[in-house]
Amino acid sequence: MAATIARELGCDFAGTTVHRFPDGETSLRIAKELGGRDIAIVCALDQPDEKLAALLFAAALCRDLGAASVGLVAPYLAYMRQDMRFNPGESVTARYFAHLLSTNFDWLVTADPHLHRIATLESVYTIPALAVRAAPAIGEWIRHNVENPGLVGPDAESRQWVGEVARLAGAPFLVLEKTRHGDADVSVSSPDFDWLRQCTPVIIDDIASTGKTLETVVRMVDEIGGARPICIVVHALFVNDAFDRLRMAGAARVVSCNTVEHASNEIFLERDLASATWEMFGQMAKRRSAISG
Ligand code: R5P
Repeated sequence: MAATIARELGCDFAGTTVHRFPDGETSLRIAKELGGRDIAIVCALDQPDEKLAALLFAAALCRDLGAASVGLVAPYLAYMRQDMRFNPGESVTARYFAHLLSTNFDWLVTADPHLHRIATLESVYTIPALAVRAAPAIGEWIRHNVENPGLVGPDAESRQWVGEVARLAGAPFLVLEKTRHGDADVSVSSPDFDWLRQCTPVIIDDIASTGKTLETVVRMVDEIGGARPICIVVHALFVNDAFDRLRMAGAARVVSCNTVEHASNEIFLERDLASATWEMFGQMAKRRSAISG
């Protein structure tokens, strides 16, 4: 992803060598001259806790090697779902994570962050932040690959994605109501959606983690008869056997954007991420010229 974004922008690319010592500590090396350059570190934040130390060290190393600015391109931005204190004494990690990244990076570019109770990235991130929308690429994929689509969103949050994709794909849509009972236990309302029998059902969600949300909707849609549904997700986390379970539940096809590397990646967002990165490089240059007068 980093190499492709660099190619899109005509920028240099450098890999980071990560060495793990036997005691679990980490050492990094970037074998490139970074002095005076604006740097974009590209890191998808699935399994974030495993990556966080190396990521923060990478930002520190870039500054240490003389970078003019250090931004983060996180195609998948973790921790956005822990956006309120659900039980007394519980952490609101979306805010803590935002604070951590905001203090270590100069800017952030991501794709479709899970904005629900937190309405905008700016309300938690104190650095310039840009979110690329996956809807245009998803809409285009549907137009080229699905005949007579009817779109389904599993829950209220999904309306923002499903509504926009429906408009772009020129397809009807409906949004269900989801209740989450536990990490891997959800139920979904079943309104009258018999009209979907005339279409190819396309279920769209931003994140598939345990896959339970999509699995539940696939089974429900299957019950009305008609064509088997297609599932599209932006961020394919698919923990453990979630992907196989979804296929076995009756999904005809499961497709994702490439914000997290996965076998289902068929919708590619590097171009959009590259333009957003370019905009951030521009902002950094402007900030410097404003400071130098
Ligand atoms: C949450 O509201 C998101 O939009 C997704 O619906 C959710 O993250 C999916 O999680 P899972 O795959 O574990 O059901």
